[in-house]
Amino acid sequence: MVREPDPALPARGELLLGECLDVAKRLEPGSVDLVYLDPPFFTGRRHVGPGESADAAPSFSDQWRGGLDDYLGWLEARCAALRELLSPTGSMYVHLDWHAVHYAKVMLDGLFGYDAFLNEIVWLYGLGGSSPRRWPRKHDTLLWYAREPGQQWFEATRIPATSQRMAGQTKKAPDWWDIPALNNMARERVGYPTQKPEALLERIVTSSCPPGGLVVDLCCGSGTTAAVAARTGRSWIAADVSEDAVRITRARLAAQGATVQISTP
Ligand SMILES: C[S@@+](CC[C@H](N)C(=O)[O-])C[C@H]1O[C@@H](n2cnc3c(N)ncnc32)[C@H](O)[C@@H]1O
Repeated sequence: MVREPDPALPARGELLLGECLDVAKRLEPGSVDLVYLDPPFFTGRRHVGPGESADAAPSFSDQWRGGLDDYLGWLEARCAALRELLSPTGSMYVHLDWHAVHYAKVMLDGLFGYDAFLNEIVWLYGLGGSSPRRWPRKHDTLLWYAREPGQQWFEATRIPATSQRMAGQTKKAPDWWDIPALNNMARERVGYPTQKPEALLERIVTSSCPPGGLVVDLCCGSGTTAAVAARTGRSWIAADVSEDAVRITRARLAAQGATVQISTP
């Protein structure tokens, strides 16, 4: 079912400078079709983007004084608030990697219910270094949950079939996605650390949010989700606690011709 944009919802594009939990509490429960959350991954690092000097470059901290428990408590509070925003056909993707995804899976099963777990998507990205002591770590994991098990809106992306039997046909994309990470020369790169490729968000947004629906990303970084939502005919609400992130997202959306309303929670 294709839903028309609801004029009672925030403008087609609303960008907020603020803490994820504060912003989530300000939004209308049950109004959101898709939440994408790409939070800090518990890397223990400060992520710094390309820039003339480390001081001037956009950055965000992923360091947790209280260790894993501290991180999981932070993540759980935000995921619980974000879950409340979902409509009965809504769903939420939580993007993580090996650092904490297994702990987060258990925590999210507790929040959503084990039956609401839909997929573990493995994003194969290829780029980056490798250690001589172990297999190269070349994937992230996205955990996908439904607000109401079985009621989620879903339209599978189709990709070219590779078997000889299906030559020239398409098939449903499987639960592993081979999508190149952005290299330093990529045209869509905007200079924000951990920026995700639009092709990744396009698969998530177009498969899991109906046209005209509402997408929410409250750790938006460089605004990849909002840029894709705007380009594919969805409404969006984006936020980040970093002023650099909000500035970069606004410029990115403006360059795309999207209308952006800026507010504080
Ligand atoms: C992994 S990055 C997101 C990258 C984004 N998906 C992109 O494509 O550019 C995580 C973001 O979460 C933001 N963040 C961290 N803690 C936050 C919080 N408490 N509330 C809102 N944003 C937060 C950081 O500033 C950072 O921009």
